[in-house]
Amino acid sequence: MAQSHPAHPEAVTFPFGRPSPFEPPERLASLREERPVAPMAYPDGTTGWLVTGYSAVRAILADPRFSSRRELLNVPVPFPLMQEMRHPADPGLFIRMDPPDHTRYRKPLTAQFTVRRMKQLEPRIQEITEERLAAMEKAGPPQDLVREFALPIPSLVICELLGVPYADRDEFQRSTAVLLNLESSVEDIRATIVRFGAFFLKLIEAKRADPADDLLSGLITSGDLTDQELSNIGFLLLAAGHETTANMLGLGTFALLQHPDQLAALRADPSLIDNTVEELLRYLGIIHVGPLRAALEDVEVEGQLIRAGDPVTLSLLAANRDPARFSDPDHLDITNPATGHLTFGHGLHQCLGQQLARVEMRTAFPMLFDRFPDLRLAVPADKVPMRDTMSIYGVRELPVRW
Ligand code: HEM
Repeated sequence: MAQSHPAHPEAVTFPFGRPSPFEPPERLASLREERPVAPMAYPDGTTGWLVTGYSAVRAILADPRFSSRRELLNVPVPFPLMQEMRHPADPGLFIRMDPPDHTRYRKPLTAQFTVRRMKQLEPRIQEITEERLAAMEKAGPPQDLVREFALPIPSLVICELLGVPYADRDEFQRSTAVLLNLESSVEDIRATIVRFGAFFLKLIEAKRADPADDLLSGLITSGDLTDQELSNIGFLLLAAGHETTANMLGLGTFALLQHPDQLAALRADPSLIDNTVEELLRYLGIIHVGPLRAALEDVEVEGQLIRAGDPVTLSLLAANRDPARFSDPDHLDITNPATGHLTFGHGLHQCLGQQLARVEMRTAFPMLFDRFPDLRLAVPADKVPMRDTMSIYGVRELPVRW
C-alpha cells in the first residue's frame, strides 16, 4: 500500500479499548495532554494524525482546507468498509463530500430538519414511546431495553419521517448493524450495500408513482434529484438517524442507572431534562471513531504541520473530556451547563438530525423513568455487554427489571 510519507518514528496507534463502560481509552487523555495533534499510524501503513484536544478538533472541523471526500479519507482501525471508501462517494451520500456537491444535497434537506419541524413530531414520538413502554410492561420483566425501547423508538421515528414502512425494520436494522460493525467481512458489507440500495430504489419508485406526506416524497416532488441520489439520501438518513440515537438511549439509561444521584436530581427537577440530554451527549462519547478528514493543503494546527494529503482522525470523545474546555469533564453532572460539546460535529457537516435526536431523547428518557420508577439492571453492571467493536459505541443489550 502506498504511503503518503515515511512512517513517523513517534506515531501512535488509535486507542480503542475502554477501561470501563463510561471511561474513554486512557491513552486518549494522555495524548490530549502531551500532544493534542499527534502523528498516528494507520493500519495500511500510512501515517496521519490523531487530534484529541478540543480547540484543535473544533478548528479542523471548521476549516475548509480539511476535506470530507471519501476517496481521500483513511480509517484508523482495520475497518472492512475501507475497501468501499477508496473511490468517491456515490451520488447523494453527501456526508462524504465537500462543497459544492455537499451543498447541493444538504440545502434542500436543511429546510426539512428545522427545530420547528422536529418539535411538530413530538406528539408522534410520545405516542411511539408510549406504545413501546406499554408493550414492555405487558411482556413483564426482565426485558432487554435495547430491543424493546432504545432501538425501536428512533427506528420508528425515522421510518415515519422518511416514509419507510416499519414492516421493513428488521431488514434495515440488520443491515446497518453489519455496516457499523468493525468485524463485518467485506463480502457481508458489499452484499448489504447492494441489498440496501435495491430496497431504497424500490421505495423511491413507489413514492414517485404515489407520493405521500413524508420527507422522501417531498424531495421527489420538489427537487430534481435522480432515483439513485434519492435512494442514497434515504439510506444515509436512515443509517445515520437510528443507530446513533438508539445508542444514546441505551447507554444513557445505563449511565443514569449507574449514577443514581443524577437520576434522582432529574426526577426531582424535570426541567433539567434538556441539560441532561446535552450532558449525556458530551459525557457518553458514542462516536468512537472519527469524524475523519484529509488535508487538502499544508496546514499548521496548533504548531503542528499537517501536510497536504495527510489523513486526520478527530476524537470527539477526547475533545468532549478536555479539561481546558469543560470543568470536571470526567464526571457526569446534569446540572453542569453542557453547551459547546462536539458530539454532533461542527462546521459544514454538523449533524443534520441533531434536533430530531434531541426531541427523541427529551421525550423518551422522562417517559421511561416515569413509567418504571423502580427501573434497575437485571444483571450486574459488569455483565452488561458493550459494543466495543462498533464505530458507534453503546450497550449491545441492557437487561432491566422494574
Ligand atoms: C445522538 C444522535 C446523533 C449523533 C451523536 C450524531 C452525530 C453526527 C456527527 C458527529 C456528524 C458529523 C460527521 C462529520 O463531520 O463527518 C453527523 C452528521 C450527520 N448526521 Fe448525525 N448524529 C445523530 C443523530 C442523527 C439523526 C437522528 C439523523 C437523521 C435523521 C442524523 C443524520 C446525519 C446526517 C445526514 C449527517 C451528515 C451531515 C452532512 O454531512 O452535512 N444524525 N451526525
